[in-house]
Amino acid sequence: MKLHPDPIPDMHTDIRPLFSHDAMTYQALRLRGLQESPTAFSASFAEERDRTLADITPRVTPAADGSKCVFGAFRTDTLVGMVTILRPQAAKVRHCAQLAGMYVDPGFRRRGIGRALLGAVIDHARAMGDVRQLRLGVNADNTGARQLYEAVGFSCFGIEPDALHVDGRFYGEAHYVLRLDRRT
Ligand SMILES: CC(C)(COP(=O)(O)OP(=O)(O)OC[C@H]1O[C@@H](n2cnc3c(N)ncnc32)[C@H](O)[C@@H]1OP(=O)(O)O)[C@@H](O)C(=O)NCCC(=O)NCCS
Repeated sequence: MKLHPDPIPDMHTDIRPLFSHDAMTYQALRLRGLQESPTAFSASFAEERDRTLADITPRVTPAADGSKCVFGAFRTDTLVGMVTILRPQAAKVRHCAQLAGMYVDPGFRRRGIGRALLGAVIDHARAMGDVRQLRLGVNADNTGARQLYEAVGFSCFGIEPDALHVDGRFYGEAHYVLRLDRRT
């Protein structure tokens, strides 16, 4: 079984790393996500809305060693999806990279874009050569995202109760890992 199926969702979608010149479009899509799906992220719209270009640019500027990269999905030059990979520098944990900020514009969902973004980020992690596993956390109630992560090979290893507090309600966080040294 392939780890992730066809990484190209359709002929009109391009997946590529974002760069500093993408900072404003990245922030626009991020703010849209924080407003539209507040229970999907630990950051909040109120905390992020006033960030300046100087705040955002370092977030989207890829690290030369690949340890930080935001992958974007573009439809006819419009950013419609993204996901971030972050790899720590510390020697004892640098074999574990974290995924964060997975988001696809509502108008473009269920077209394989989320799956393609994960395919790109998994390929990127493999290409670094010494990343053994990818981790992520997802709201335990987010069944759609969980199905997507499980479809590409992530396994849930636990649920942290009450990890997220949004609008007076607590949500559990499901913790996932994908072992890159184990082909599924
Ligand atoms: C979760 C999210 C990224 C999925 O993006 P997407 O582009 O729609 O995902 P895909 O089209 O690649 O879906 C691939 C598979 O994942 C599963 N899946 C995705 N969304 C699903 C949903 N809402 N319900 C059930 N299954 C879903 C399905 O198995 C799907 O395959 P299928 O369409 O052939 O049935 C998107 O819904 C989103 O941005 N949601 C809001 C933010 C969010 O939840 N981010 C995750 C934070 S951890």
